[in-house]
Amino acid sequence: MGSAEREMVLILDFGGQYNQLIARRVRECNVYCEVHPHTLSTEKIKEMHPMGIIFTGGPNSVYEENSALCSRELFDWGIPVLGICYGSQLMAHVLGGEVKTAPVSEYGKTEVRIDEEGSLLFQGVSQETICWMSHTDYISRLPDGFRATASTPVCPVAAMEHASKKLYATQFHPEVMHTVEGKQMLHNFVFRICGCSGDWKMASFVASAIEQLKAQIGDKKALCALSGGVDSSVAAVLLSKAIGRQLTCVFVDHGLLRKDEGDQVEEVFGPTGPYDVNFIRVNAKDRFYTKLSGITDPERKRKIIGEEFIRVFEEEAKKIGKVDFLVQGTIYPDVIESGLGKSAVIKSHHNVGGLPDHVDFKDIVEPLRLLFKDEVREAGRQLGIPDYLVDRQPFPGPGLGIRIIGEVTEEKVKIVQEADAIYREEVAKAGIAKDLGQYFAALTNMRSVGVMGDGRTYDYAIALRAVKTSDFMTAECAQLPWEVLQTVTTRIVNEVKGVNRVMYDCTGKPPATIEFE
Ligand code: XMP
Repeated sequence: MGSAEREMVLILDFGGQYNQLIARRVRECNVYCEVHPHTLSTEKIKEMHPMGIIFTGGPNSVYEENSALCSRELFDWGIPVLGICYGSQLMAHVLGGEVKTAPVSEYGKTEVRIDEEGSLLFQGVSQETICWMSHTDYISRLPDGFRATASTPVCPVAAMEHASKKLYATQFHPEVMHTVEGKQMLHNFVFRICGCSGDWKMASFVASAIEQLKAQIGDKKALCALSGGVDSSVAAVLLSKAIGRQLTCVFVDHGLLRKDEGDQVEEVFGPTGPYDVNFIRVNAKDRFYTKLSGITDPERKRKIIGEEFIRVFEEEAKKIGKVDFLVQGTIYPDVIESGLGKSAVIKSHHNVGGLPDHVDFKDIVEPLRLLFKDEVREAGRQLGIPDYLVDRQPFPGPGLGIRIIGEVTEEKVKIVQEADAIYREEVAKAGIAKDLGQYFAALTNMRSVGVMGDGRTYDYAIALRAVKTSDFMTAECAQLPWEVLQTVTTRIVNEVKGVNRVMYDCTGKPPATIEFE
C-alpha cells in the first residue's frame, strides 16, 4: 500500500509480542505505518519508499541456525532504521558486531542511563530513565562506526547508533507503556530522524484505500457478509465507494439481534439508504428458532447459530453466482500475531463461524486489516456512517442467542430485546456510556414469584451487566449509579411483560466472562 506520495514508516515483524504496539505508537504520531513480515523482499521494501524502517523484537537468537535475518542492503540504503530488542541485535550481527547470551538477563522495568545526550533518539529524555527490558542475549561488541548511547549496569549496549548512516537500536522496548519516555523516543525517531511531518489523517487513509480497492477489484464483483457491526459496516461502505454496485452485501437477520437493529442496518444499507450497493436482507429468524428449539447448552447454541449462518449466507451467495472477491471486516487486532511474519490469518470470525466453503470466490479483500478499532470508527465517521452504527459496542456474532440462558424462544428473545433497549436508553440518558466497555441485559432462565397489582406473578429475572475493560480479556464490574439501576429496574418490570425481577451482575472477568451465557 505504501506509495511515493505518502509518508510511511515500515515495521518489519520478526515475531515479537509488542509489534502491534509499535504500529500504534507510530500512528499516534499521525504517521502512517504498515507492519509486514520480515520476509518481505528488499525490492518490495524499496518500492514502498518508506521514510524509515523499524525492526521489531522477536523470540530468536540471531546466532542460531535458521534465525530470521535481513539483507545488509537495508542498512546501506540511507533510510533510517530503528532496531528494537531482537531488531537491535540483528542490526549488530549483520553489520559485523557480536551478539552473545548475556551473563545476566534483564526482564521488566530497568533503569537505563543515557550516555550520549546528543543522540537524536534521546532528545528530551531524562538521563536516567525507566525502560522495559526483556532479553537473554545482548550486544557484546559494537559494529564498526557505532557508538553505545545508553547502558545499564549489566548491559553495556542498551542502545547504539551510527548517526550519519541513520541507524539506531535499542535493547529495550520503547513501545511499551512501562518505558516511561518511550513515546518521546519513537517520536524522535519518526520526526527528527526519519523527517516525517505527521500529516497522516484518517481522511487520507479513506481516500487511498478507495483508490487501492478500485485498482484491485477493477470491474469484478465482490460479496460482503454484513453483520451490522462496526467493522463489516465500515468495510462495506469503503467497498461501495470504490466499486458501487459491483458489491453485494448480504445481511442475515437471524432474529437474535438487538431491538430494531435489523431495520437500522437496512435503513443504512438498503435501497433508501445513502449508499449505492446491492443489499440483500435475509429474514431467517424462523430457521434459527427452529434449529435452536430445545437446545440449552451454550456451546451447542453457538455452533448451531454459526453453522446456520453460513448455510443461509451460502444459499444467497449461490443465487448471485460467481463472485471474484469476498470482503472481510478483519481488523488489525484480529490479525493473529503468529510471529515470524506469518501474520495473515483470516478471522475465524466468530460472527460467521468461519469462511463459507461453497461460495465460489477467488480472493479475499480485507480493507481494514491494518487499522485498530478506534481507527475503524474514525474511518467510519469520515465515510459518513451514522454514529449509532460507528459507536456500537461489541456484540457477539451469535447475538442474543447467548444472552438467554437455557432454551432460546421467540418470546424470550422479545423479552431480552425490550429489557436491553430500556437499559441502553437509560445509560445513554445518564451520559455514562463512554465510561463502560460493554453493557447489556441478559435473560436468566430463572422464574420466581412476585406480586403485581393484586395478583401473584411467576416470571423471569433479567440480569443487567456492565463492565469496564480495555482489552476484553479481563474486565471489572462497573459501579453504575444506583439511581440509574433503579430507573432501569422500575421501567423493565413495568414495561416488559414476563419479567418481575431485575438483578445486577457484580462479577468481574475472571471468574465470569463478559457475556452472560
Ligand atoms: P467473553 O464473554 O468471552 O467475551 O468475556 C469477550 C468479548 O468477546 C465478545 N464475544 C464475541 N464476539 N463473536 C464475537 O464477535 C462471538 O461469538 C463472541 N463471543 C463473545 C463479547 O461480547 C465480549 O466483548
